[in-house]
Amino acid sequence: MSPAQILIKEHTLIGEGLNLFEAGINKFEAGQEINKTFFIDLIMFFRGYVDQTHRGKEEKIFLPAAKKLSDQNFRACAEKFTQEHMHGRNFITALEQSVNQYYGGDPSAKINIIANAKDYIQLLRSHIDEENQCFPNIESAFSPDQQSKIAEGFDKIEVEEIGEGVHDKYLEILENAKIVLRI
Ligand SMILES: [Fe+2]
Ligand SMILES: [Fe+2]
Repeated sequence: MSPAQILIKEHTLIGEGLNLFEAGINKFEAGQEINKTFFIDLIMFFRGYVDQTHRGKEEKIFLPAAKKLSDQNFRACAEKFTQEHMHGRNFITALEQSVNQYYGGDPSAKINIIANAKDYIQLLRSHIDEENQCFPNIESAFSPDQQSKIAEGFDKIEVEEIGEGVHDKYLEILENAKIVLRI
């Protein structure tokens, strides 16, 4: 798999996480009690898998290389994607705060959990759609030498920063979320 294909494949798992998160949020909004662990686990998935594992590859390797391309559109896309990552992180921080408030006994925080979750889901879905369209084009603008350096960088991140068994941990989080939601 090429680096762009790897990132696009990872988007599929992220999309699954978003679907489960949305299913939980809809139940929560409809008045069904959702336990705190559901939210904490998904926050862990979004921070760990989306922000570190996946975006580590994007932010440390793929996007910096795209920002150096001569095509201005590709540079602008890479800039936009980096900004959106920051917005996503802010939503997760705000979500975590409202989750802690709500389960700490403040029912008024429910509205903020729902708002932050929905904004995050919407942001990530459109971000992923756009990356899926742009990444193959960006990749084709890299020289063969750049492409192999990017592929090596991805391998290095997998081995040195992520490590064995970590992917399984995130798959397990999603499986647990399905059990909680009975889907
Ligand atoms: Fe991204
Ligand atoms: Fe991505």
